[in-house]
This record gives sequence, C-alpha cells and structure tokens, in this order.
Amino acid sequence: MLDPSLDRILIVDDEPEIGRVLKLFLDDEGYSSSLVTSGSEAMDMLEKSKDYTVVLLDIKMPGLDGVTVLKRLKEIGSDVAVIMMSGHGSEEMAVQCMRDGAEDYISKPFVFEDMLQRIERARTNRSERIEKRRLQQEKDDFILMLSHDMKNPLTAVIGSIDIIREGCLGPINEEQKDYLHSAIDSCREVVTMIDNLLDIRKFEAGKFQMAINTFNAQELIGKIAEQFTRPARHDGIELIVDIEPGTSEIAIDKSALTRVIGNLLGNSLKFTHEGGTITVSCRCIPGDRITELKIPSYLSIPPDFQKNNYFIRLSVHDTGNGIEPDELECIFDRFTQLTRKTGREQGGAGLGLAYCKLVINSFHGLIWAESEADQWSEFIILLPCCYFSSSDSI
Ligand SMILES: Nc1ncnc2c1ncn2[C@@H]1O[C@H](COP(=O)(O)OP(=O)(O)OP(=O)(O)O)[C@@H](O)[C@H]1O
Ligand SMILES: [Mg+2]
Repeated sequence: MLDPSLDRILIVDDEPEIGRVLKLFLDDEGYSSSLVTSGSEAMDMLEKSKDYTVVLLDIKMPGLDGVTVLKRLKEIGSDVAVIMMSGHGSEEMAVQCMRDGAEDYISKPFVFEDMLQRIERARTNRSERIEKRRLQQEKDDFILMLSHDMKNPLTAVIGSIDIIREGCLGPINEEQKDYLHSAIDSCREVVTMIDNLLDIRKFEAGKFQMAINTFNAQELIGKIAEQFTRPARHDGIELIVDIEPGTSEIAIDKSALTRVIGNLLGNSLKFTHEGGTITVSCRCIPGDRITELKIPSYLSIPPDFQKNNYFIRLSVHDTGNGIEPDELECIFDRFTQLTRKTGREQGGAGLGLAYCKLVINSFHGLIWAESEADQWSEFIILLPCCYFSSSDSI
C-alpha cells in the first residue's frame, strides 16, 4: 500500500455534509484532504496546485458539473486520478465518464471501506501510469539520440562509397559498381528510416518546419519518380511514370513531398516481386469530380476540402503482394507492419506511411490505400491544387 501521507485528495461535492464526513474519514486514514463545493473552485485548485493525486468528484453539481470538470482536466493534460461520485439516476453518466478518462466511479450512498479501496486502486494505477510514461519517454529520447547520432556517420559512409563507385580512386568493373550501388541504397534506406522517426517526433511536438513553395506538380512528381528507375531496374521491376500533360501548381514543401513519394516507391519496391510493375501516375481532377473517387469513410476530410476547384491525384500502384481490406487503414499507424509473407526480408520500422500521412494531412490533403490482396496495391494522394491549365479539357 502506498503511504497515504504522500498524497493529497480533493473532495468536490455541493452537499457539504457528505463532503465533510468524507474528509474526516480520509484524514483519519492518514490522507491529507481538502473540500470544495463547486466545480469552478475545484478547477482553480487543481490548476494552481499539482499536489493533488486523487479527486473525488460529484457528477451532479450546479454550475460546472463533474462531467465538465473531468473534460477540462483531460484537456489540460492533468495527471490527477478522478473518481466520479454518482447519485441516484447518474449511473449512466458515470459509465460515460469512465470512457472519458475517469479512473473509477462510486454510487452514493457508499460504504467508506469501499471508497478507501477505490482510492487505493486509483493511486496505484496512477503511479503505474506515470512510471510507464516516464520509461516510454526515456526510451523514446534514447532512440532519438541514437538515431540522430547514427545519421552523420551513415551519410559519411554513403559519400565514401560513392567516391569509389564513381571510379575516383581507380577503375572498377560493372559488378563491383553494382555492389556499391546496393550498399548505398541500403544505407539510404536506414537514413530514410531515421529521418521518418525524427520528423514524426517533430510533428508530434509541433516543431516540424515546412518550407512551403509553389511547384509545377507534373514536373516535380515526374522528376522525383525518375530517380527510382535505377533501383527498380536493379530489382527487375518495371517503373512506369504516367504523368498527364498539363500545368498544375501545388503549394508544398518540396523535400517533404519528395520523401513521401520516396517512402511509397520504397514500399512498392520492397513488396513487389521481380517481373512486377510499379506505376506512378499524376493527373488533375476538378473538385466536383472527387466524389467519383473511392475516398474511404474512415478518413477525416479537412474543412472546406471540397471547395477546392482542382486537385492533384498522385498515385503509386504496384503489382506486389497487396494488403487485406481490413488492414488498409491501420498500415498508416506508427510501427505497423503486416505479418504476411513478402518473399524477401522485409526490414524497416513501420514508420514510412505514418510519416506520409502526417505530411499529406499538413498540406490539407488526403492519403489512403486501395488493394486486392496478392494482386496489387495503390497508394493515392489528393492534394489541393492552386492553379491548373490544360489545352485538353479533363
Ligand atoms: N506497396 C505495398 N504493398 C504491400 N504492403 C505494403 C505496401 N506498402 C506498405 N505495406 C504494408 O504496410 C506496412 C507499413 O508500411 P510502412 O512504410 O509504414 O513501414 P515499413 O515499410 O515496413 O517500414 P519503414 O517505412 O519504416 O522502413 C508495411 O510493413 C507493409 O506491411
Ligand atoms: Mg516503408
């Protein structure tokens, strides 16, 4: 049992009699407790002092009720464990509060022993939760530091191999060149993984800085895709770049979009067998025709999305091993990798698509996947387009 004298408990009840008896009882048990009779007083105290570890919160109170106090506490990221006290007729609300993050609830009138046990459990859960979060933070910081420190030597390795590959240190034959190419590709894969990890963290901390500029979408996407011709040929895969003529302008961060396409193409190369085909397509779609696309219902559509006059539809299609329908949504979650056999060593960390989603969403766009298992996959991106001109109408 945790030492009661270490914790402060806040009792919030508009019926002072109940509160006073509860306070006497808790103080008798060695706790240090305070009593307030309204939700607003409770918020004041909890915002001012971080000493409280448990709040016994009445649901029905005039003014700020218990449900609202709980919501506000969650909004400000408070660590305090909340036990709701429900009177007759508020049990359903209490159950809803549990879903909204309350630790527990107790119905009035209650037996003090029962209350004591619930407080004990709430305190234990709270300290375990805090400890788990601390360990997770430590682990994350360590991984981030390690990743960051690994990037510089890796970049140096790539540079050195490149000098040998270029023949600057003496002639090399085609086979040697090919091996050096593979070594560079593998190092670049690790650098991409590190970049994904570091950038996801920056996004989460609100520190990711975008350098947004306007680009000719067709030209930019074509150029990025062309860079993958060699690795595709190396793996015996045909890469088709199918860019519809026209001039569309998109406002994006070029290096972030380059990495998004790089991640998608990297996946297609990884999950497509020799002899397969990867197609990168880009076309412009008028805003009133996006309803013809199969945008999944689980995507949250940015506000005013449909008001855009034009969109760029960018897609990476491959004839690889595909994805099961029920896995199409979760692959965009961090560290998600499907367990289906790929026919080759999968590698990776399950971060590429999570990074893509964060970037595309920050451009007010959408990304999703369509697939037929064992046949093909297609990753589709819709980006609002600031300008479009074409001699042919769409
Ligand atoms: N083109 C694809 N074909 C089949 N499965 C895919 C394809 N792209 C992604 N997936 C599935 O989605 C998972 C998540 O992809 P994601 O890019 O996030 O991670 P990863 O490629 O495994 O690792 P990382 O990108 O961090 O190197 C993959 O592990 C794979 O199971
Ligand atoms: Mg990937």
